[in-house]
Amino acid sequence: MGRTLSGRAPAVVAHRGSSAAEPEHTLTAYRRAIDEGADAVECDIRLTADDELVCVHDRRVDRVSDGRGVVADLTLAELLELDFGVLRGRGSTVLVLRDLLQLLLDAPRRVDIAIETKHPDKYGGRLESRLAALLDEMGLASPEPVQPHVRMMSFSVLAVRRFGRLCPGLPRVLLSELGLVPSVRAGRLPDNIPVLGISTSLLRRDPQIVARHHARGHQVHVYTVDRDDDLDRCLDLGVDAIITNRPAWVRSVVDAL
Ligand code: G3P
Ligand code: CA
Repeated sequence: MGRTLSGRAPAVVAHRGSSAAEPEHTLTAYRRAIDEGADAVECDIRLTADDELVCVHDRRVDRVSDGRGVVADLTLAELLELDFGVLRGRGSTVLVLRDLLQLLLDAPRRVDIAIETKHPDKYGGRLESRLAALLDEMGLASPEPVQPHVRMMSFSVLAVRRFGRLCPGLPRVLLSELGLVPSVRAGRLPDNIPVLGISTSLLRRDPQIVARHHARGHQVHVYTVDRDDDLDRCLDLGVDAIITNRPAWVRSVVDAL
């Protein structure tokens, strides 16, 4: 097994909750991820028409609910009328970020959270401001070691910078599809942006990106690891966080190392 930057076991991160088993981004999926031993959970956030933060991946609600429309055009009350459990054929309401954070605050053990802001360029900074205000209100914006530890992620350098100004004590991670940004592929960070590291897609085409970033002290997180060969590669390369829709499976493999 390869060495992670810290030398500790890689973190198991539940992507949208335990989303291979439960409807993504629902409380049920996150409760299950906690029960299955995830070290952290991942979620995507968007703003509703009335400025509430909800956990929804897509721009539209069509794939994940029984409704139609753009999240940013619907109020929270309108979203609450929809069933967000349709992906697994069970009823569920839209998840408000505040409720997910409260679930983690109430968890019997520390479970961290990686929050991805979607899509920052559209909201012009409002998304990061609302997120920073919510974290502050819930006592989670402190550089002190509160639990859960929160980290922010984005594909947008601008959004990562903005959030860094708002919550300088919290770590940020730059998302980058493998190979899309030449400097990231080479092991560098655009404009030397101050982040914990990068989060990138499966390492099939360029596994050595891990060594290049580790050499500069950057963590490497990898999404979305749901297959044996991809998990083996991550473990061989010393990836720092393994982001998966199947946290119980990754947990059992990591614990057996
Ligand atoms: O954790 C990063 C990963 O979630 C980014 O891709 O499309 O699943 O949000 P996406
Ligand atoms: Ca995401």
